[in-house]
Amino acid sequence: MPVAKILVYPDPVLRAKAKDIENIDGRVVRLAEDMAETMYAAPGVGLAAPQVGVSERLIVVDAKHSEGEKELITLINPEIVEAEGKVIGEEGCLSLPGVNEKVTRAERVLVRGYDLKEQQRQIEAEGLLAIALQHEIDHLDGVLLFDRLSRLKREIIQRKMRKVMREGLEPEKKDYNLF
Ligand code: NI
Repeated sequence: MPVAKILVYPDPVLRAKAKDIENIDGRVVRLAEDMAETMYAAPGVGLAAPQVGVSERLIVVDAKHSEGEKELITLINPEIVEAEGKVIGEEGCLSLPGVNEKVTRAERVLVRGYDLKEQQRQIEAEGLLAIALQHEIDHLDGVLLFDRLSRLKREIIQRKMRKVMREGLEPEKKDYNLF
């Protein structure tokens, strides 16, 4: 399975609202497999299709992988149907290399979507899985983690990203969760 190239901000695909998937066919199955491979190779906790240049509503998440287990979740057209509580977690994004910020999210979410067998799936999540699902669903709406911060912080990060792109800097490898 080929590992895909992960797009980096300011690529415009990352800011677009992704389209619903209407047919779960072989193309979608292959895309999901390539995305999982890309996520594990990064390594990341989650990946959304726009991050590999496909503006469609498909995400992969594995919040157990960092603990040496494997629990791959693939969701098509995912939606947050319930959210409660508040939690602040450190987040990095595979599309924002070198950026690591505290982001406020719902503590628990109920997410609905379809799996690759066209079965409806409902996932009750908390902890890292809840954060990863919210981060990836944001990607489907063109929302990046800096949109969840103050305007000042957002502008600092956007400036830093433009500098990284211009100078082709390698991001520092730090130990935090990438989505
Ligand atoms: Ni991300």
